Amino acid sequence: MKKRLEKKKVLITAAGQGIGKATAIAFHNEGATVYATDINEQTLKVLKKEYPEINIQKLDSTKKADVRKYCSQLNNIDVLFNAVGFVHHGTILDCNEKDWDFSFDVNIKSMYFITREILPKMIKQNKGSIINVSSIASSLKGLPNRFVYGTTKAAIIGFTKSIASDYLKNNIRCNAIAPGTVHTPSWEERVQAAANPEQAKKDFIARQPMGRLGTAEEIATLAIYLASDESNFVTGITHSIDGGMSI
Ligand SMILES: NC(=O)c1ccc[n+]([C@@H]2O[C@H](COP(=O)([O-])OP(=O)(O)OC[C@H]3O[C@@H](n4cnc5c(N)ncnc54)[C@H](O)[C@@H]3O)[C@@H](O)[C@H]2O)c1
Repeated sequence: MKKRLEKKKVLITAAGQGIGKATAIAFHNEGATVYATDINEQTLKVLKKEYPEINIQKLDSTKKADVRKYCSQLNNIDVLFNAVGFVHHGTILDCNEKDWDFSFDVNIKSMYFITREILPKMIKQNKGSIINVSSIASSLKGLPNRFVYGTTKAAIIGFTKSIASDYLKNNIRCNAIAPGTVHTPSWEERVQAAANPEQAKKDFIARQPMGRLGTAEEIATLAIYLASDESNFVTGITHSIDGGMSI
């Protein structure tokens, strides 16, 4: 049976755990050649042990020179999956300038850096699919204590639409994914960091109309569709995948 991403070369950020890792594995299983990057070398090594065919590279997505150097070694890239992100907990009054800059650097400037390196390669080959991980906490929905996180995730939606519009004629598509709450290692950390972890867990689940969290693998199935030629008529769209949160 033909795999859905055969002959595609994909570059993934934040592939060491969570949605990025699940997507790296799903893309690999669909026949893609995967270049998996993350700031955390340990988690990448675990991925490599599990899937020796996946290429790994330690990369801090916020470091422009490192991103440039790494991307310059890659030839053609068909799919760029931008998963890097950090959740700051709090309101505007809890967010000082350092928090603001850090969140913008990790969540959106990183995407700007890597997209500027990969886009010229896609223009040359006259095709490509860029997928950016936003969130339901963005311009789609205001959630408590997600001030700077939601602001950066809304920026990703504008970033996505703008690229989709500018490069439509180059056969390059750009879409965003907006997950609801997904069971990932950083979500576990957020629960454990709460004053009452049991209550925090209940609260997270209560805001999901389906009464459960999403899985990273469920997000990866949407990513496969957006990476594949099945979605050739789809660009500039933010795809919510949230267990009914945005109904
Ligand atoms: N988990 C959720 O509930 C949820 C919901 C909506 C959106 N998202 C978004 O999905 C994406 C992935 O989140 P997750 O929860 O699956 O993963 P996670 O938060 O568990 O892991 C994040 C990964 O990013 C890596 N990383 C952090 N800073 C980096 C940097 N500067 N350079 C390179 N890598 C870096 C970490 O090492 C880690 O492997 C994020 O953009 C997040 O905002 C997550």
